[in-house]
Amino acid sequence: MTNSLSATDISASLSEAGPFQILEYALGEHDNIALSFSGAEDVVLVHMASQIKPGVQVFCLDTGRLHPETYQFIEQVRKTYDIRLELLFPDTEQVQKLVSQKGLYSFYEDDHQECCGIRKVGPLRQKLLTLDAWVTGQRKDQSPNTRAEIPVVQVDRVFSRPGELLMKYNPLANWSSKQVWDYIRLEDMPHNALHAKGFISIGCEPCTRAVLPGEHERAGRWWWEEATKKECGLHASNIEK
Ligand code: ADX
Ligand code: SF4
Repeated sequence: MTNSLSATDISASLSEAGPFQILEYALGEHDNIALSFSGAEDVVLVHMASQIKPGVQVFCLDTGRLHPETYQFIEQVRKTYDIRLELLFPDTEQVQKLVSQKGLYSFYEDDHQECCGIRKVGPLRQKLLTLDAWVTGQRKDQSPNTRAEIPVVQVDRVFSRPGELLMKYNPLANWSSKQVWDYIRLEDMPHNALHAKGFISIGCEPCTRAVLPGEHERAGRWWWEEATKKECGLHASNIEK
């Protein structure tokens, strides 16, 4: 298994590589690896990975609060690509307890950590316990506050099992939003219909809104909270430094 020193070395050696090459490396290195797909522009990774490794494992965290457009898009992606797509659901008892005690919109009053913890982080943790490595669509330009320094390869210390390091690959880390969208257009890929309605970064329906021209894409996520808190726990290592 790759250790944390070699993760730094690998990241350095792949720092000039493009996403396809990074994915090729990751999928060649680990049999037990899966892509996390949010239902947005990270479709570029699904597109590339399905060419490199047909039948590649992909998972979506279905929080139960996604937009109808996102569900439709996820289904379109399932039908378009040669992938094994899995939807991961939150624990029923935990959701029921939260909603009966605090209602359906507690995140506007508390903050989003509790709901994200139940609907996203819990199911992600369960899934990651079964994997050696995972791939995300994070990019540096998505968040100057929390993602400016993400490497293309890292050890995921937040979700590693005791004694066994989990590797995390971010093949799009060095791509800009423009590069991603140029590639989506070039390859004529399907995309989430919300993008044509002013949405850039897309999460759950109650916690995502369209942005105005010139606004940063993360301005449409958890807009009632401070920018420094705009991580939901999937990528907690970005803010636990
Ligand atoms: S979030 O943490 O703020 O919600 P963001 O929407 O920027 O994340 O997406 C960054 C990456 O996190 C995605 O490319 C994907 O790899 C992963 N991700 C985010 N949301 C999901 C989801 N619902 N299911 C699976 N992966 C997700
Ligand atoms: Fe809950 Fe909003 Fe987090 Fe979705 S993004 S899990 S609705 S707090």
